[in-house]
Amino acid sequence: MYRTDVLIIGSGLAAFAAANALCRYQTVTMVTKEKVTLNNSVLAQGGIAAAISRDDRWMDHVYDTLLAGNSHCEPEMARILAKEGVELIKELISNGMMFDKSQNGELDFGKEGAHRTSRILHAGGDATGKALFSFLQKRVLPNIRLFEHETVQQLICNDEGCIGALSQNSQGKIRTFLASHVIIATGGTGGLYACTSNQRFSTGDGLALAYRIGAKLVDLEFVQFHPTLLRHEQKAVGLVSEAVRGEGGVLVNEHGDLIMKHIHPFEDLSPRDVVSRAVFKRMKQGEDIFLDISAIKDFNERFPTVTALCKKHGIDLQSNRIPITPGSHFLMGGILVNEYGETNIPHMYAVGEVACTGVHGANRLASNSLLECLVFGQRAGKHILAKEKRVVKNRVIPYQYQQVRKTLLSRSLIQEKMMKQVGIVRDAKGLSQLVQEFTETLQPISIEHHHIYPNEQWTTINMLTLGRLMALSALEREESRGAHFRSDFPESDANWERKRIMHISSQPINEVMT
Ligand code: SIN
Repeated sequence: MYRTDVLIIGSGLAAFAAANALCRYQTVTMVTKEKVTLNNSVLAQGGIAAAISRDDRWMDHVYDTLLAGNSHCEPEMARILAKEGVELIKELISNGMMFDKSQNGELDFGKEGAHRTSRILHAGGDATGKALFSFLQKRVLPNIRLFEHETVQQLICNDEGCIGALSQNSQGKIRTFLASHVIIATGGTGGLYACTSNQRFSTGDGLALAYRIGAKLVDLEFVQFHPTLLRHEQKAVGLVSEAVRGEGGVLVNEHGDLIMKHIHPFEDLSPRDVVSRAVFKRMKQGEDIFLDISAIKDFNERFPTVTALCKKHGIDLQSNRIPITPGSHFLMGGILVNEYGETNIPHMYAVGEVACTGVHGANRLASNSLLECLVFGQRAGKHILAKEKRVVKNRVIPYQYQQVRKTLLSRSLIQEKMMKQVGIVRDAKGLSQLVQEFTETLQPISIEHHHIYPNEQWTTINMLTLGRLMALSALEREESRGAHFRSDFPESDANWERKRIMHISSQPINEVMT
């Protein structure tokens, strides 16, 4: 049994931002199902949005965030993000975080979709997530206890709320963690889809864990598809940053026709949902789509990560054309939290992509996700510090091994189905079919608070659980808004404005321990 003041599940930037606020004052234990450096934050290329240039104002950043969010954002959360983001980035810089500068020695602000001004800071060219992560990791890791390759299978509750977790490592060893506070920071659901910019293991585990103990999940129909993932042998093999279009890249078909012309006033820098649908439509018509990079000077230097990715897959950049395809990128919805990351389960917090503050609405503004991790991660950490520590009694948590005896759907089949039926364009028929199939597959599987499954099976159960809830939300929202597009309801409906679809388990499994 491991006791700690704060247990953090997940190891991305939001997890580290929370740990950074906490680790000099309280004991922090971080548990992650892969290696600590394998997370979605390190894959974030383009940058981090913050209104710190002399000509920019945080209110303008709020405005762009709300507009991209399609009347579905929580304005107060957008205000917190943009305003506190400015202070936080300045503090990071004064603590030694190095963002890229232009030749005149000033910070080099890039541009991305739906921003009306250049406000994207970047580091290492297109390795911003990695640079920010390394910066925090160095400061935090020596001050926390870390468990890698450790899959949390159950959250433990008592009558006061969440008190810890049961996990199983890659050798099958079970551990119990008891904590005064628990923070879920496990990222999103990209791994549910066949094409994704995310790590393959982003399988919605934190959402499923929280749902099972009665946490509220909201906005699951809003999944952002990034328009430009590198396409190789008809598969998505990594991200090609939106910053490439910010520097002059344009989307073309095999004949060189500009595909974003006349679709939206911002053309190639339109909101991400608009660009993804335009690319998807062309691909459905049988066209191959490319990013034409001929206007970008010194591409290799500005985009070393994209260059290395292309090289790895044998794509010749001399041709000035990068083959692309859209893929799942970011879940706007998640575990419902307030401005401090608190969930409806006492003593349980959620931060980063797994959480839904409402800041992103129906479509996240480009480069707001790293900022969200820093701002709301730090807020959660500080909020815990301001609370009294609880004394959680030592106890033996019973568990029982389980095994699913029938064949579950394979992961690749789930991913194909999600892509096709809960993808860029949805309709009632495809969504209902998926709900029915996933419901039937899950039906015979019993999950009690003390059950431990083989980690592989556990992941598949989580994927099915989340996929089903996402499809249910998409089915219920009979309109199109932001990233949620229904071909049978192609318009936005004012009656749906600011309405949130919520899932809360009717039979939470948190048998209360006294
Ligand atoms: C990108 O570099 O295109 C991704 C950045 C983001 O998701 O905001």
